Amino acid sequence: MQVDFSSQPRKSRRVLVVLVPEDGKSGVRVAAADKTVSQAVAAARSTPGFFAKHGQIADILQPAGSQCRRVLVVGCGAAKALSAFACRKLGGILAAHLAKQHETDAGIFIAPFADAPLNEAEIAANVALGAALRSYRFDKYITEKKESETPTLSALSFYLDAAERARKVWQRLDALRGGIYLARDLTNEPPNTIYPAAFAAHASRALRPLGVKVEVLDEKRLATLGCGALLAVGRAAAHPPRLLVLEWNGTRKSKGRTDGPIALVGKGVCFDSGGLCLKKPEWMLRMKGDMSGGAAVVGAIHALAARKAPVHVVGVVGLVENMPSADAYKPGDIVKTMAGKTIEVIDTDAEGRLVLIDALYYAAKRFKPRAIVDLATLTGSILHALGSVFSGIFATDNSLAEQLLAAGEETGERLWRMPLDAGYDKNLESPIADLCHCAPDAERADAAHAAALLKQFVDKRPWAHLDIAGKEFHEKEMPLAPIGARGYGVALIEAFIAGAER
Ligand code: BES
Ligand code: MN
Ligand code: MN
Repeated sequence: MQVDFSSQPRKSRRVLVVLVPEDGKSGVRVAAADKTVSQAVAAARSTPGFFAKHGQIADILQPAGSQCRRVLVVGCGAAKALSAFACRKLGGILAAHLAKQHETDAGIFIAPFADAPLNEAEIAANVALGAALRSYRFDKYITEKKESETPTLSALSFYLDAAERARKVWQRLDALRGGIYLARDLTNEPPNTIYPAAFAAHASRALRPLGVKVEVLDEKRLATLGCGALLAVGRAAAHPPRLLVLEWNGTRKSKGRTDGPIALVGKGVCFDSGGLCLKKPEWMLRMKGDMSGGAAVVGAIHALAARKAPVHVVGVVGLVENMPSADAYKPGDIVKTMAGKTIEVIDTDAEGRLVLIDALYYAAKRFKPRAIVDLATLTGSILHALGSVFSGIFATDNSLAEQLLAAGEETGERLWRMPLDAGYDKNLESPIADLCHCAPDAERADAAHAAALLKQFVDKRPWAHLDIAGKEFHEKEMPLAPIGARGYGVALIEAFIAGAER
């Protein structure tokens, strides 16, 4: 989708859009500059059902005395509630409305809103981001396109006085868009095309041109490092494990911080069959998405590098397929982690924590990060606890937790703080190894026990674990995404790191 910003409305546009706030005071100036638009606003405002609620659209067809095919008057709700996230949702709703009407391009008037927390440049760029995110398509495997199919939006032009400033804001947001698209592509790809080496190659192709350092450690290297937990999980698969290591350093060396990078660690289980503790088919179907924590790490680093963010960030993604075979790891096995601690395996379907343990420890030891944040579709348990509204955050550091909680509210990828506690640690004692893989069934609270296990492997560094299980796909269209992979976590992490830059 093409996005451009200019202070001169293009006369040839057949579809015009104007945003109007509920309170009716602002947005008038630009609208007044164009007669067709100001008449449409007046017409919408005099329609009994049009209250300019957030996302409400009055579609005025063939306005009299004009070349236009239609003018969309889009309600924004109360101006003071028009946050970046609210603007993104407006853009998404607008994009879907246009596409449904088979309109593929439009020009949008943006005026400064009195009382709005954002200036007009920020409003325009965030509307553009929302429209672009909603217009994402993953149709490369559809060989016969139907004619009746809804088209995708191809161009949006924004008309506003602060066009130059809007272009600047869009640079950052377009980088974020690219990161979200990349994460969605990785997650939408079927499991026969995205296996560990293929994931690493895809990420590498996208990131290297941006100046990101990319290393891919193979199974032999991982064996030398002693990553016995990760290797045990991946052992049965035809496609061997990989560890993807990324580094973006956008800080100026002279002014560089000395307190280490921020490390992002991702669960990259390219397919989770459950292993010998095989999943039921209805649960297995979605398990190509079990690498979406890893995809979020790749997408976030893409977003940061594409806008040359002045930060030092590293990414580590543990890539495996969890499969059954004669050589698969078994319940009862004892595995040795890179940290040297041994773990008694209880259930081969709890593979994520074993993969993350070695990835976390590698990140902590090699990079000595000032903070570690991991993203993982780790447990069904978190989904039972929080449903679709929140992901779980477990953190050893309150300030890190608060920054992430704030980034979650800002981006709509919301987090709810969950407990780390010695009580959970206690349930991970094993009679036969240093640690037990899972708590006894009767204890329940698997998400908290998984977090308690991970905590042992972060080398006491400030750490937050985001359990994002169940957030990988949308089953129905949402304001910011079509059906399919969400690219969940990219916006959250990008906002968290943007906050840490200041
Ligand atoms: N990848 C799953 C968790 C998951 C569940 C992700 C639902 C997305 C949606 C994880 O590897 C898993 O299988 N966890 C088990 C752990 C159990 C065996 C202790 C679970 O939650 O059932
Ligand atoms: Mn599993
Ligand atoms: Mn899994």
